[in-house]
Amino acid sequence: MKETTRVLIPEEKVDERIAQLGEQISRDYEGKQVHLIGILKGSIFFICELAKRITVPVTMDFMSVSSYGAGTKSSGVVKLIKDLDESIEGKDILVVEDIIDSGHTLSYLLKNLSSRNPASIRLCTLLDKPERREVDVEVDYQGFSIPDEFVIGYGLDYDQRYRNLPYIGVLSLTEE
Ligand code: IMP
Ligand code: MG
Repeated sequence: MKETTRVLIPEEKVDERIAQLGEQISRDYEGKQVHLIGILKGSIFFICELAKRITVPVTMDFMSVSSYGAGTKSSGVVKLIKDLDESIEGKDILVVEDIIDSGHTLSYLLKNLSSRNPASIRLCTLLDKPERREVDVEVDYQGFSIPDEFVIGYGLDYDQRYRNLPYIGVLSLTEE
């Protein structure tokens, strides 16, 4: 298969939107400390940029769950691969995700995290593909709502590649 990419959201637009989200989060968490939970690996670029734009005290932890493997379709099966290093009990949690597609991953994660007695739990995603939703997930902060296309870059991968693109692109696969 031949892989071609085109820009969907340019780097400046992504950075600008992340700065806005950072301001909004800083206002909403005024007087509190926010504990960011990044979902590996897709959210790493986003969480770094976002954390730099938050002005209230920030701590961070990471967890990893299985998603699509090498394909571009969700299996609906979610597996915990790496758990958090620290307890979240009594903390104000903000889950930071790259993209919400079917909603299976976040639905599983939010249930799992809620059972650990955090003070509060909210969700921030860089991208959202609402047309593809199979399970309801409440999104508190969203960067961009995008159409049903497979995207790469800014942390998002296809078969582990393209994460390092500084923009959000659309990947097309065609017969060679
Ligand atoms: P969900 O469980 O279907 O909501 O899928 C969530 C996960 O699938 C995300 O955290 C991504 O890792 C991956 N994913 C979903 N859509 C895309 C895409 O368009 N490009 C790259 N990864 C995606
Ligand atoms: Mg992910």
